[in-house]
Amino acid sequence: MTMKPMNKLIDEINEALDKSIQSSNLSTPIEDSMRYSLNAGGKRIRPVLLLLTLNALNKDYHIGLQSALALEMIHTYSLIHDDLPAMDNDDFRRGKLTNHKVYGEWTAILAGDALLTKAFELIACDTALSDKQKVDVIKRLSIASGHMGMVGGQMLDMQSEDKEVGIDILEAIHETKTGALLQFAVLSAADIAEVNDITHSHLEHFSYHLGLMFQIKDDLLDCYGDEAKLGKKIGSDIANNKSTYVSLLGKEETENKLKYHKEQALKELRQLDDDYDISQLENIVELFFNRDH
Ligand code: IPE
Ligand code: IPE
Ligand code: MG
Ligand code: MG
Ligand code: MG
Repeated sequence: MTMKPMNKLIDEINEALDKSIQSSNLSTPIEDSMRYSLNAGGKRIRPVLLLLTLNALNKDYHIGLQSALALEMIHTYSLIHDDLPAMDNDDFRRGKLTNHKVYGEWTAILAGDALLTKAFELIACDTALSDKQKVDVIKRLSIASGHMGMVGGQMLDMQSEDKEVGIDILEAIHETKTGALLQFAVLSAADIAEVNDITHSHLEHFSYHLGLMFQIKDDLLDCYGDEAKLGKKIGSDIANNKSTYVSLLGKEETENKLKYHKEQALKELRQLDDDYDISQLENIVELFFNRDH
């Protein structure tokens, strides 16, 4: 299936996201605060991954649009809360002041809460999916974002501040705090496309390696990245005394890990049926490997 170029796909996601937050007549800054972070210029890698996976599985990507928006809302909420003084205490995100720096802490907390709940509303109200598809996606998203997934990983991440944890714990942190939502992007597309068990298993392994790649690169960029390109301050992990791949293994070994997970991700993709066009997913792997922001 032919697919829009990535920048057009991102435009489509941005436009749909902007429309998805209606203004209530309560006259509070909550919608402004939600829109501020939603429209702050995120890379949209998660919704793009969901839509490209659907396309690779020979489905019209539009049927996944609301699920993709829901995923970006949960990701955005996780970042608003991640930046709060009680967590990573960061002042810049996506090249702009963090949400709580502009709107204050309680509005930022509530904007995060509202984005989380809105995500489930979007899927529940989706007219493109069957009831079964919606329940499958909601179930997967609730597990991926909750205490067994992203929130669980954030908890482990916070608990391991000021301690040196082993590589197994670090991997568990990365797998959950970041990997779970990236894995949702791929596996919700697999649910919607109703793929067979073998395809599902390759996609599960593919997305596992992709998720680890993403956070390993995030750790590298936090040490060696360019603030202007990243849109956030580097050195946040060191300032917060976090264990990261870089602090545990050093730069070279971390880069080797990144390469290892890249090769594994590509290997899984290449085992998919020939009916599936994996070229855009291969491009995503390269993007994750080479990204500088
Ligand atoms: C940052 O995610 C937080 C992590 C999970 C590593 P992104 O790098 O995707 O952030 P945005 O959405 O592009 O700002
Ligand atoms: C954040 O991880 C992961 C989530 C918000 C779930 P980080 O704390 O490493 O993300 P950045 O570096 O602030 O973007
Ligand atoms: Mg954090
Ligand atoms: Mg952080
Ligand atoms: Mg980081």
